[in-house]
Parts: sequence; C-alpha cells; structure tokens
Amino acid sequence: MSVPGPATVRLRAHAKLTLSLRVLGRRPDGYHELEAFAVSLERPADLVEVTVRDASPGEERRCVLELAGETGDVPRGEDNLAVRAALTLLDRAPSRTAATLRLTKAIPAGAGLGGGSADAAAVLRGVATLLRGGSDLAHVDLRWAAEQLGSDVPFCLTGGAAWMRGRGEVVGPVEVGRPAEVGRSAEVGSGPWVVVAVPPLHVSTPAVYAAWDELGGPTSARTVPLPEGFGLPVTELVNDLEPAAFAVEPALEAFRDRLARAAKRPVSLAGSGAAWFVPVGDEQAARELAAAVGSSLGPTVRVVATPLAARGVTSVADERRG
Ligand code: C5P
Repeated sequence: MSVPGPATVRLRAHAKLTLSLRVLGRRPDGYHELEAFAVSLERPADLVEVTVRDASPGEERRCVLELAGETGDVPRGEDNLAVRAALTLLDRAPSRTAATLRLTKAIPAGAGLGGGSADAAAVLRGVATLLRGGSDLAHVDLRWAAEQLGSDVPFCLTGGAAWMRGRGEVVGPVEVGRPAEVGRSAEVGSGPWVVVAVPPLHVSTPAVYAAWDELGGPTSARTVPLPEGFGLPVTELVNDLEPAAFAVEPALEAFRDRLARAAKRPVSLAGSGAAWFVPVGDEQAARELAAAVGSSLGPTVRVVATPLAARGVTSVADERRG
C-alpha cells in the first residue's frame, strides 16, 4: 500500500498574470513562440484539496472531481486539467492509487488568468507530496509532467515572477525584491500591487491565437508604463494578443475604454483576456483604485486588488502559520 489510509493536502493555486506578452511567430507545431513576463497573484486563488487512497479492487474512475465556488464554465470530467494532472502521476505510481480532487474555484474561467493551469500545478504538487511520502513517485519529474499538461502549467508550478519563452513552458524565474516577502505585502502594506477587472466575457485562448494568425501576426504598438517600485525587468507593458482578442470578442475594446476612463490611466489585457489590469505601486492606492473602478463599472464586473504572490502554489497550512 502506498498511503497508510486516505491522506489529504490543502493548497492554494494562485492566478497567473501575464504582465507583458510578445508573440514572436507561429511554429511548425501550431503553437506560438512567446517572450512573456508573468507574475503570480495572491488573489484570486483556488483552494485545491487533494486526497489519495488505495484504489478499491475493480474501481474504474481513479480520479473523482468535486467542484465548488465559481464553477460556471469549468470542465467537470477528464477534460479538466486538474484531473489530467492527477492521472498523469497516478498512472506512473507503482501501486494502484486513486485521488479525489476538491476544487473551490475563485479564478474565473476564460479570463486569461491561468485558472486551469494553476489548479493542475497544485494537483501535481499535492499528489506528488502525498505519494512521495511512500516514495512512489520519486522517479517522476514534475516539470516534465507540467509541460505535458499545458504551456502555462510549468510557470504555475514555480510561480513568483518569471520570463516565459518557447510556447510558454521555458520558465526563467526572476527575483523581485526579497522574494520571501512578496507574498506578505498584504500585511506590510507596501510593494507591487495590481488591480484586476474581469468583465462578464469569456475568451478562448486557442481562438485568440488563431485570430492572431488570421490578422497576419500583428505586433502591438500600444505600451503601458509600469509604475516605479515594481523592481521587475520590464518597464513597459505590451500585449501582442490585444488586436486578436478584440477580433474574437469585440466587446472587449469598449470594456477597455470604460475601464481606462474609470481608472484614469491606460490599462493592459491579461494574456488572451478577458481580464484587464492596472499595476499600482502600493496597497492603499490599489484599494482606492479598485473601489473607484468597482463603483463606476457596476456589479457585473469583478474587481480585485491584490499583491503579487511569491509562489504559484502555496500550502494552506503555511498560510495559517502566517
Ligand atoms: O498549451 P495549452 O494546451 O495551454 O494551449 C492551448 C492552446 O492555446 C493551444 O492549443 C494553442 O491553440 C494555443 N497556444 C498557442 N501558442 C502558445 C500557447 C498556446 O498557440 N504558446
């Protein structure tokens, strides 16, 4: 037996925010070559509870998925990346092990905030932690598993702040200030914060990349300055996917303009959208901006003020210890 009775870990899977994104071209394999800079956000974050136990004899489904929270468009079967992440590891465990995943969703789907990838990364960490207790997965390279699952999963597995190259899977971490302190900026009240605004629109990432091809591979000329104090290796934000996202969802352009008017500054598209964001130098300014934007745009727009997170996946036990 690999696990002495059912064992559970509780993790937080943090949203990923692509601050700046250049698309360098379409590759022969259909993916796009990227040069992007991404950070993990303290919020929104999904709660990911992973339980593993020995599979019963004849048990067919080795991974059960339970969803709670904002489950709107979240896939419920094996097309959910979290389930595929669990099965990738369970299939490589020498003993027959089953998993139950309970996802409490807070990261909106179709917003470009990497919710599915974050959940998959947390499940990889969770299953590996539980099975490595019995050294069942000692031979499995989590980074390899993450790459198999999707272009954004390797970033989410590490998180923090990093360059993403290749199709996204080549992750080059960058230290931001003292990294251990980044996730604590909520408590100390200083450091880089971001205001994220999510309109009630859902954008498909493959559709946006396909539109980028159809538009002839545009390079975005629009740049947004990053405020001082972020301490990141990018100072101007760009997103080459912006025109393609407008082609897929024309309502995004009007939303950008409404948000920019409410925020009184230029705003940036999060990855392939539909979320937008404004980087802000400190907590108080971020909270004030979020309140102003929220009251201007009304209840259908979700507005979050958040510090960056030092990692993509954190343990809920660590959180309780502070
Ligand atoms: O890697 P992942 O499965 O998350 O990618 C989803 C889709 O997004 C791909 O099938 C592809 O259409 C598009 N994509 C891309 N180039 C990238 C990343 C994603 O074309 N670098």
